[in-house]
Amino acid sequence: MTIKNVSVIGGGTMGNGIAHIFALSGYKVTLIETKQEFADKALTTITKNLNRMVAKEKITEEAKEGGLANISTSLDIRDGVSGADLVIEAVPEDLGIKTSVWKAVDEAAPSHAVLGSNTSSISITKLAALTSRPQQFIGMHFFNPVPVMRLVEIVRGLETTDEVYTAIEETAKALKKVPVPVNDMPGFVSNRVLMPMINEAIFAVYEGVATPDHVDQVMKLGMAHPMGPLRLADFIGLDVCLDILNVLHEGFKDPKYRPCPLLVKMVDAGKLGNKTGEGFYSY
Ligand code: 3HC
Repeated sequence: MTIKNVSVIGGGTMGNGIAHIFALSGYKVTLIETKQEFADKALTTITKNLNRMVAKEKITEEAKEGGLANISTSLDIRDGVSGADLVIEAVPEDLGIKTSVWKAVDEAAPSHAVLGSNTSSISITKLAALTSRPQQFIGMHFFNPVPVMRLVEIVRGLETTDEVYTAIEETAKALKKVPVPVNDMPGFVSNRVLMPMINEAIFAVYEGVATPDHVDQVMKLGMAHPMGPLRLADFIGLDVCLDILNVLHEGFKDPKYRPCPLLVKMVDAGKLGNKTGEGFYSY
Protein backbone atom coordinates (compact mmCIF):
# COMPACT_ATOMS: atom_id res chain seq x y z
CA MET A 1 0.00 0.00 0.00
CA THR A 2 1.74 3.19 -1.16
CA ILE A 3 0.61 6.56 0.13
CA LYS A 4 1.71 9.57 -1.90
CA ASN A 5 -1.38 11.73 -2.39
CA VAL A 6 -3.14 12.91 0.73
CA SER A 7 -6.40 14.86 0.83
CA VAL A 8 -7.00 16.79 4.04
CA ILE A 9 -10.60 17.89 4.59
CA GLY A 10 -10.83 21.02 6.73
CA GLY A 11 -8.17 23.73 7.03
CA GLY A 12 -8.86 24.79 10.62
CA THR A 13 -6.43 24.50 13.52
CA MET A 14 -5.90 20.76 13.12
CA GLY A 15 -6.37 20.50 9.35
CA ASN A 16 -3.80 23.15 8.47
CA GLY A 17 -1.28 21.55 10.85
CA ILE A 18 -1.90 18.13 9.29
CA ALA A 19 -1.49 19.55 5.76
CA HIS A 20 1.70 21.32 6.91
CA ILE A 21 3.47 18.18 8.19
CA PHE A 22 2.43 15.96 5.25
CA ALA A 23 3.58 18.57 2.71
CA LEU A 24 6.88 19.10 4.55
CA SER A 25 7.46 15.32 4.50
CA GLY A 26 7.09 15.20 0.72
CA TYR A 27 3.50 14.09 0.28
CA LYS A 28 1.28 15.80 -2.30
CA VAL A 29 -1.50 17.43 -0.31
CA THR A 30 -4.92 18.62 -1.44
CA LEU A 31 -6.41 20.81 1.25
CA ILE A 32 -10.19 20.89 0.95
CA GLU A 33 -12.23 23.78 2.33
CA THR A 34 -15.75 25.06 1.81
CA LYS A 35 -14.84 28.67 0.89
CA GLN A 36 -11.85 30.28 -0.78
CA GLU A 37 -11.32 32.61 2.18
CA PHE A 38 -10.98 29.60 4.53
CA ALA A 39 -8.51 27.92 2.15
CA ASP A 40 -6.50 31.17 1.92
CA LYS A 41 -6.50 31.52 5.69
CA ALA A 42 -5.19 27.96 6.10
CA LEU A 43 -2.38 28.61 3.60
CA THR A 44 -1.47 31.84 5.40
CA THR A 45 -1.24 29.97 8.71
CA ILE A 46 0.87 27.19 7.19
CA THR A 47 3.22 29.76 5.64
CA LYS A 48 3.51 31.59 8.97
CA ASN A 49 4.30 28.36 10.83
CA LEU A 50 6.84 27.27 8.18
CA ASN A 51 8.50 30.70 8.41
CA ARG A 52 8.71 30.23 12.16
CA MET A 53 10.49 26.89 11.60
CA VAL A 54 12.92 28.53 9.16
CA ALA A 55 13.62 31.33 11.66
CA LYS A 56 14.34 28.69 14.34
CA GLU A 57 16.64 26.89 11.84
CA LYS A 58 14.58 23.71 12.09
CA ILE A 59 14.10 23.64 8.31
CA THR A 60 15.71 25.42 5.37
CA GLU A 61 14.06 28.02 3.14
CA GLU A 62 14.17 25.42 0.30
CA ALA A 63 12.33 22.87 2.47
CA LYS A 64 9.69 25.49 3.22
CA GLU A 65 9.25 26.33 -0.47
CA GLY A 66 9.15 22.61 -1.34
CA GLY A 67 6.50 22.04 1.31
CA LEU A 68 4.35 24.91 0.08
CA ALA A 69 4.67 23.68 -3.50
CA ASN A 70 3.28 20.31 -2.41
CA ILE A 71 -0.02 21.88 -1.31
CA SER A 72 -2.96 22.61 -3.58
CA THR A 73 -6.45 23.56 -2.49
CA SER A 74 -9.91 22.50 -3.58
CA LEU A 75 -13.39 23.78 -2.79
CA ASP A 76 -15.07 20.61 -4.06
CA ILE A 77 -14.87 17.60 -1.79
CA ARG A 78 -15.51 15.02 -4.53
CA ASP A 79 -12.94 16.56 -6.82
CA GLY A 80 -10.50 17.01 -3.97
CA VAL A 81 -10.44 13.34 -2.93
CA SER A 82 -10.60 11.82 -6.44
CA GLY A 83 -6.84 11.16 -6.58
CA ALA A 84 -6.24 10.37 -2.90
CA ASP A 85 -4.36 7.41 -1.48
CA LEU A 86 -5.23 8.69 1.99
CA VAL A 87 -8.07 10.99 3.04
CA ILE A 88 -7.86 12.68 6.44
CA GLU A 89 -10.96 14.39 7.72
CA ALA A 90 -10.48 17.21 10.22
CA VAL A 91 -13.88 18.92 10.21
CA PRO A 92 -15.74 20.04 13.37
CA GLU A 93 -16.81 17.43 15.92
CA ASP A 94 -20.39 17.39 14.69
CA LEU A 95 -21.77 14.04 13.59
CA GLY A 96 -24.06 15.74 11.03
CA ILE A 97 -21.15 17.48 9.31
CA LYS A 98 -18.97 14.36 9.49
CA THR A 99 -21.78 12.25 8.03
CA SER A 100 -22.20 14.41 4.94
CA VAL A 101 -18.42 14.62 4.47
CA TRP A 102 -17.90 10.86 4.68
CA LYS A 103 -20.82 10.07 2.37
CA ALA A 104 -19.29 12.36 -0.27
CA VAL A 105 -15.79 10.94 0.24
CA ASP A 106 -17.09 7.39 -0.07
CA GLU A 107 -18.69 8.23 -3.41
CA ALA A 108 -15.62 9.90 -4.89
CA ALA A 109 -12.39 8.51 -3.37
CA PRO A 110 -10.51 5.78 -5.26
CA SER A 111 -11.35 2.24 -4.12
CA HIS A 112 -7.86 1.70 -2.64
CA ALA A 113 -7.88 4.91 -0.54
CA VAL A 114 -7.37 4.67 3.22
CA LEU A 115 -9.96 6.77 5.07
CA GLY A 116 -8.74 8.44 8.24
CA SER A 117 -10.48 10.69 10.72
CA ASN A 118 -8.77 13.11 13.10
CA THR A 119 -11.85 13.00 15.34
CA SER A 120 -10.97 13.65 18.97
CA SER A 121 -13.67 11.43 20.42
CA ILE A 122 -16.39 10.27 18.02
CA SER A 123 -16.44 6.49 17.54
CA ILE A 124 -14.25 5.39 14.63
CA THR A 125 -16.47 2.34 14.17
CA LYS A 126 -19.52 4.62 13.84
CA LEU A 127 -17.78 6.88 11.28
CA ALA A 128 -16.49 3.82 9.39
CA ALA A 129 -20.05 2.52 9.11
CA LEU A 130 -21.01 5.68 7.18
CA THR A 131 -18.87 4.36 4.33
CA SER A 132 -19.06 1.23 2.20
CA ARG A 133 -15.47 0.32 3.23
CA PRO A 134 -15.15 0.18 7.02
CA GLN A 135 -12.13 -2.13 6.68
CA GLN A 136 -10.18 0.82 5.22
CA PHE A 137 -11.24 3.27 7.92
CA ILE A 138 -8.99 4.31 10.81
CA GLY A 139 -8.53 7.08 13.39
CA MET A 140 -5.42 9.22 12.98
CA HIS A 141 -5.61 11.57 15.95
CA PHE A 142 -3.09 14.43 15.93
CA PHE A 143 -2.39 16.97 18.69
CA ASN A 144 -2.29 20.74 18.64
CA PRO A 145 0.06 22.32 17.59
CA VAL A 146 0.44 19.52 15.05
CA PRO A 147 3.92 20.53 13.80
CA VAL A 148 5.22 20.35 17.39
CA MET A 149 3.41 17.52 19.20
CA ARG A 150 4.98 14.12 18.54
CA LEU A 151 2.03 11.84 19.25
CA VAL A 152 -0.40 10.32 16.77
CA GLU A 153 -3.04 8.16 18.44
CA ILE A 154 -3.96 5.49 15.92
CA VAL A 155 -7.44 4.21 16.55
CA ARG A 156 -8.61 0.91 15.13
CA GLY A 157 -12.29 0.58 14.36
CA LEU A 158 -14.05 -2.76 14.72
CA GLU A 159 -13.27 -3.73 11.13
CA THR A 160 -9.96 -1.93 10.43
CA THR A 161 -7.60 -4.40 8.73
CA ASP A 162 -4.04 -5.07 9.86
CA GLU A 163 -2.81 -3.88 6.46
CA VAL A 164 -4.45 -0.49 6.90
CA TYR A 165 -3.19 -0.21 10.47
CA THR A 166 0.38 -0.95 9.37
CA ALA A 167 0.21 1.53 6.48
CA ILE A 168 -0.93 4.30 8.83
CA GLU A 169 1.65 3.41 11.46
CA GLU A 170 4.38 3.67 8.79
CA THR A 171 2.91 6.94 7.54
CA ALA A 172 2.99 8.43 11.06
CA LYS A 173 6.67 7.44 11.34
CA ALA A 174 7.39 9.02 7.94
CA LEU A 175 5.97 12.25 9.40
CA LYS A 176 8.50 11.86 12.27
CA LYS A 177 5.67 11.27 14.73
CA VAL A 178 5.30 8.52 17.31
CA PRO A 179 2.27 6.31 16.60
CA VAL A 180 0.50 4.80 19.60
CA PRO A 181 -2.21 2.20 18.98
CA VAL A 182 -5.46 2.42 20.92
CA ASN A 183 -8.82 0.73 20.61
CA ASP A 184 -12.04 2.51 19.76
CA MET A 185 -13.66 3.64 23.02
CA PRO A 186 -15.04 7.11 23.87
CA GLY A 187 -12.22 9.66 24.11
CA PHE A 188 -9.67 6.98 23.15
CA VAL A 189 -6.84 7.35 25.71
CA SER A 190 -5.82 10.98 25.25
CA ASN A 191 -9.13 12.70 25.84
CA ARG A 192 -10.40 10.14 28.34
CA VAL A 193 -7.51 11.18 30.58
CA LEU A 194 -7.09 14.85 29.59
CA MET A 195 -10.70 16.06 29.60
CA PRO A 196 -11.63 14.93 33.13
CA MET A 197 -8.54 16.83 34.33
CA ILE A 198 -9.60 19.99 32.47
CA ASN A 199 -13.20 19.57 33.71
CA GLU A 200 -12.00 19.17 37.30
CA ALA A 201 -9.88 22.32 36.95
CA ILE A 202 -13.01 24.18 35.80
CA PHE A 203 -14.94 22.79 38.79
CA ALA A 204 -12.18 24.13 41.05
CA VAL A 205 -12.80 27.63 39.64
CA TYR A 206 -16.60 27.16 39.71
CA GLU A 207 -16.50 26.16 43.38
CA GLY A 208 -14.24 29.09 44.27
CA VAL A 209 -11.25 26.96 45.25
CA ALA A 210 -8.85 29.13 43.22
CA THR A 211 -8.68 31.57 40.31
CA PRO A 212 -7.90 30.23 36.81
CA ASP A 213 -4.39 31.61 37.03
CA HIS A 214 -3.78 29.96 40.40
CA VAL A 215 -5.17 26.60 39.23
CA ASP A 216 -2.80 26.79 36.24
CA GLN A 217 0.16 27.78 38.40
CA VAL A 218 -0.41 24.71 40.58
CA MET A 219 -0.32 22.36 37.59
CA LYS A 220 2.57 24.13 35.83
CA LEU A 221 4.86 24.56 38.80
CA GLY A 222 3.80 21.50 40.80
CA MET A 223 3.35 18.97 38.00
CA ALA A 224 5.57 20.42 35.25
CA HIS A 225 2.75 20.74 32.71
CA PRO A 226 3.81 23.09 29.88
CA MET A 227 0.44 24.88 30.13
CA GLY A 228 -2.04 24.84 32.99
CA PRO A 229 -5.33 23.02 32.27
CA LEU A 230 -7.38 26.21 31.86
CA ARG A 231 -4.89 27.83 29.48
CA LEU A 232 -4.89 24.52 27.61
CA ALA A 233 -8.71 24.43 27.54
CA ASP A 234 -8.69 27.91 25.95
CA PHE A 235 -6.06 26.73 23.47
CA ILE A 236 -8.06 23.62 22.49
CA GLY A 237 -11.35 25.58 22.40
CA LEU A 238 -13.97 25.42 25.15
CA ASP A 239 -16.59 24.24 22.64
CA VAL A 240 -14.32 21.35 21.65
CA CYS A 241 -13.75 20.47 25.32
CA LEU A 242 -17.51 20.49 25.94
CA ASP A 243 -18.21 18.33 22.87
CA ILE A 244 -15.64 15.77 24.00
CA LEU A 245 -16.96 15.71 27.58
CA ASN A 246 -20.47 15.15 26.22
CA VAL A 247 -19.22 12.22 24.14
CA LEU A 248 -17.55 10.73 27.25
CA HIS A 249 -20.65 11.37 29.40
CA GLU A 250 -23.04 9.85 26.90
CA GLY A 251 -20.68 7.05 25.86
CA PHE A 252 -19.93 5.74 29.35
CA LYS A 253 -23.19 6.87 31.02
CA ASP A 254 -21.03 7.71 34.00
CA PRO A 255 -21.68 10.97 35.98
CA LYS A 256 -17.95 11.40 36.56
CA TYR A 257 -17.77 12.89 33.04
CA ARG A 258 -20.55 15.45 33.64
CA PRO A 259 -19.40 18.76 32.10
CA CYS A 260 -18.99 21.53 34.68
CA PRO A 261 -21.93 24.02 34.47
CA LEU A 262 -19.38 26.86 34.19
CA LEU A 263 -17.98 25.31 31.00
CA VAL A 264 -21.50 25.01 29.54
CA LYS A 265 -22.23 28.63 30.45
CA MET A 266 -19.03 29.92 28.87
CA VAL A 267 -19.73 28.07 25.63
CA ASP A 268 -23.31 29.43 25.65
CA ALA A 269 -21.85 32.92 26.02
CA GLY A 270 -19.57 32.41 23.03
CA LYS A 271 -16.43 32.59 25.16
CA LEU A 272 -14.58 29.77 23.45
CA GLY A 273 -10.95 30.59 24.33
CA ASN A 274 -8.13 31.80 22.05
CA LYS A 275 -10.20 31.68 18.87
CA THR A 276 -12.83 34.15 20.14
CA GLY A 277 -10.38 36.27 22.13
CA GLU A 278 -11.86 35.28 25.48
CA GLY A 279 -12.16 32.19 27.62
CA PHE A 280 -10.63 31.70 31.04
CA TYR A 281 -8.16 34.37 29.87
CA SER A 282 -8.35 37.31 27.46
CA TYR A 283 -6.27 37.26 24.28
N1 3HC B 1 4.05 25.39 14.20
C1 3HC B 1 5.38 25.17 14.28
N2 3HC B 1 6.08 25.35 15.42
C2 3HC B 1 5.43 25.79 16.51
C3 3HC B 1 4.03 26.04 16.51
C4 3HC B 1 3.34 25.82 15.29
N3 3HC B 1 2.03 26.00 15.19
N4 3HC B 1 3.67 26.46 17.76
C5 3HC B 1 4.77 26.46 18.52
N5 3HC B 1 5.82 26.04 17.77
C6 3HC B 1 7.20 25.82 18.25
C7 3HC B 1 7.95 27.07 18.55
O1 3HC B 1 8.62 27.56 17.41
C8 3HC B 1 8.93 26.62 19.62
O2 3HC B 1 10.06 26.01 19.02
P1 3HC B 1 11.49 25.93 19.81
O3 3HC B 1 11.27 25.02 20.98
O4 3HC B 1 12.42 25.38 18.80
O5 3HC B 1 11.79 27.34 20.23
C9 3HC B 1 8.18 25.56 20.38
O6 3HC B 1 7.12 25.13 19.50
C10 3HC B 1 7.59 26.11 21.64
O7 3HC B 1 6.81 27.26 21.31
P2 3HC B 1 6.90 28.65 22.07
O8 3HC B 1 8.29 28.88 22.56
O9 3HC B 1 6.28 29.68 21.20
O10 3HC B 1 5.91 28.49 23.27
P3 3HC B 1 5.91 27.47 24.46
O11 3HC B 1 7.29 27.08 24.88
O12 3HC B 1 5.00 28.09 25.43
O13 3HC B 1 5.24 26.17 23.84
C11 3HC B 1 3.42 24.82 23.25
C12 3HC B 1 4.00 26.20 23.20
C13 3HC B 1 4.25 23.88 22.36
C14 3HC B 1 2.03 24.92 22.67
C15 3HC B 1 3.45 24.29 24.74
O14 3HC B 1 2.88 25.23 25.59
C16 3HC B 1 2.73 22.98 24.90
O15 3HC B 1 3.27 21.91 24.65
N6 3HC B 1 1.46 23.05 25.40
C17 3HC B 1 0.61 21.88 25.59
C18 3HC B 1 -0.03 21.55 24.26
C19 3HC B 1 -0.93 20.37 24.36
O16 3HC B 1 -1.14 19.76 25.40
N7 3HC B 1 -1.49 19.99 23.20
C20 3HC B 1 -2.44 18.92 23.14
C21 3HC B 1 -3.84 19.47 23.18
S1 3HC B 1 -5.04 18.20 23.14
C22 3HC B 1 -5.30 17.92 21.53
O17 3HC B 1 -4.80 18.57 20.65
C23 3HC B 1 -6.23 16.77 21.24
C24 3HC B 1 -7.60 17.20 20.85
O18 3HC B 1 -8.33 16.03 20.58
C25 3HC B 1 -8.31 18.02 21.88
